[in-house]
Amino acid sequence: MSSADTDSTTPPPIRRGAMTLRATTPEDCPFVVEVERHPDNAPHVEQWSEAEHRAALSRPGVRHWLIEHRDTPIGYVVLEDTDDPNGSILLRRIAIISKGRGHGRTAVLLAAHDCFDVLGCHRLWLNVARNNRRAFNLYRRLGFVEEGIARESVRKGDRFISMHVLSMLDREYRATHQL
Ligand SMILES: CC(C)(COP(=O)(O)OP(=O)(O)OC[C@H]1O[C@@H](n2cnc3c(N)ncnc32)[C@H](O)[C@@H]1OP(=O)(O)O)[C@@H](O)C(=O)NCCC(=O)NCCS
Repeated sequence: MSSADTDSTTPPPIRRGAMTLRATTPEDCPFVVEVERHPDNAPHVEQWSEAEHRAALSRPGVRHWLIEHRDTPIGYVVLEDTDDPNGSILLRRIAIISKGRGHGRTAVLLAAHDCFDVLGCHRLWLNVARNNRRAFNLYRRLGFVEEGIARESVRKGDRFISMHVLSMLDREYRATHQL
């Protein structure tokens, strides 16, 4: 599949100021993997091969977004279970190359807009490692609520690590955020 094959199921880009989420194409996957493998990101996000990212692009229930700032790719975000009958979407992964400039905050807000305003979901949730303070702070400041700890739920090499489970409900999103 090439970007020329994008069809009517490809979601249109979402823009806010200089930031855009646009559907990731197969041609973007080397960049996505580069971001994922970056030493600042790799400890915090699951590692997929380029082929795994390409396969995810057309998997039902997945939104694979490339994050662009002033038309330059700066990261990606993956949503899963967009077809969940309970309206619960998983923010599976986000990674950005230029950190601490507010790009992560805007990208998560755009993804939340997609989930709540476009897809009409009821709950957006995610897992974040207990030691990933930057990501944890970002989600908490955006209004995600901590549900609890999924104990030793992720295998890392020869050990298991615990994850915070955080979520935002549609009414919480609407009370706080407006795109
Ligand atoms: C997590 C990530 C997406 C956040 O993006 P970012 O652009 O760096 O974050 P922002 O600049 O938008 O900052 C948003 C909030 O994060 C927190 N934050 C930012 N830098 C921080 C730091 N060095 N330490 C702790 N908290 C920090 C702050 O609360 C900040 O809000 P504020 O500016 O209102 O204080 C990005 O850092 C990243 O790609 N990290 C590696 C991969 C990862 O951890 N993914 C998430 C897995 S759950």
